[in-house]
Amino acid sequence: MNAKAIDQETLLQNERDPLTHTPVHLLSLEGVGKHYGNIIALSDVTMAVDNGRVTCVLGDNGAGKSTLIKIIAGLHQHDDGVLNIMGEERKFGSPRDALDAGIATVYQDLAVVPLMPIWRNFFLGSELTKGFGPFKYMDVEQMKAITLKELAEMGIDLRDVEQPIGQLSGGERQCVAIARAVYFGAKVLILDEPTAALGVKQSGVVLRYILQARDRGLGVIFITHNPHHAFPVGDRFLLLKRGKSIGYYDKKDITLDELTAQMAGGAELAELAHELEQLGGHGDVVKEVKAEVADVDSVNAGGPKHA
Ligand SMILES: Nc1ncnc2c1ncn2[C@@H]1O[C@H](COP(=O)(O)OP(=O)(O)OP(=O)(O)O)[C@@H](O)[C@H]1O
Ligand SMILES: [Mg+2]
Repeated sequence: MNAKAIDQETLLQNERDPLTHTPVHLLSLEGVGKHYGNIIALSDVTMAVDNGRVTCVLGDNGAGKSTLIKIIAGLHQHDDGVLNIMGEERKFGSPRDALDAGIATVYQDLAVVPLMPIWRNFFLGSELTKGFGPFKYMDVEQMKAITLKELAEMGIDLRDVEQPIGQLSGGERQCVAIARAVYFGAKVLILDEPTAALGVKQSGVVLRYILQARDRGLGVIFITHNPHHAFPVGDRFLLLKRGKSIGYYDKKDITLDELTAQMAGGAELAELAHELEQLGGHGDVVKEVKAEVADVDSVNAGGPKHA
């Protein structure tokens, strides 16, 4: 099967409803770029996020993934291109601006207070209160009930929301954060490498909640360097390398093997094998890398070369 990149023309046409000419994407980037001093962290990146769709952003270390989400989450501003939120051009001044626009971000190092109960973390910064003025106090029972209900609705079965969140596994904590974003009305949910530190089983659990959020109608941006995590849940895939897009695909136009091959970068692996050989000694490793190169080559031989 041939991987066919989504060309910019089609993307931008899709963005305009042919009859009303109103933009229909929940969020889109057109030719967005960002530099830090002399370092070009991101250049000419185009992608779209829609309701009930998962857009995956893939790339190795330093590819620009975090820079991209920081622009969308309001931590940094882009220097070039356009960021559209529901058709309106925006440049966020602060994370609060992005939140107000319905964009919730779950960072890898979740901002949780480990010793506080799950329900406290769920409502952190948005506590429910009862009463007025000096008689105002936290509505603990209500918050506990909502936390339990919201988690159950996402299929997260926690016996006790009184438990300190620090006792949950990394995967469960990610799930609580996703349920929280859904409850507080996020339209766009950004997940920065939610599966990076997790084992196979826990990753599976988080991937399931990504689909839950999608089915609730959110537009999800899923950042990962693992094509095996991205492919089963993604609708679109943006591949970044050194700040540039090296491909933007619709699910129907690419296979897992092709995605993996693009990520692995056959030429780089070959170079690594050569370098290791020159260094001498690491016979086993060289063999392994060479096998990997052969794998990537055979996949690439089945389809056209990209990038
Ligand atoms: N605040 C900054 N000041 C200067 N350079 C930066 C800054 N933030 C990122 N960069 C540079 O921009 C490039 C892209 O970085 P970014 O953090 O977006 O990559 P990434 O894809 O998130 O990588 P990782 O997988 O390691 O998290 C890198 O070369 C990085 O060194
Ligand atoms: Mg990063």
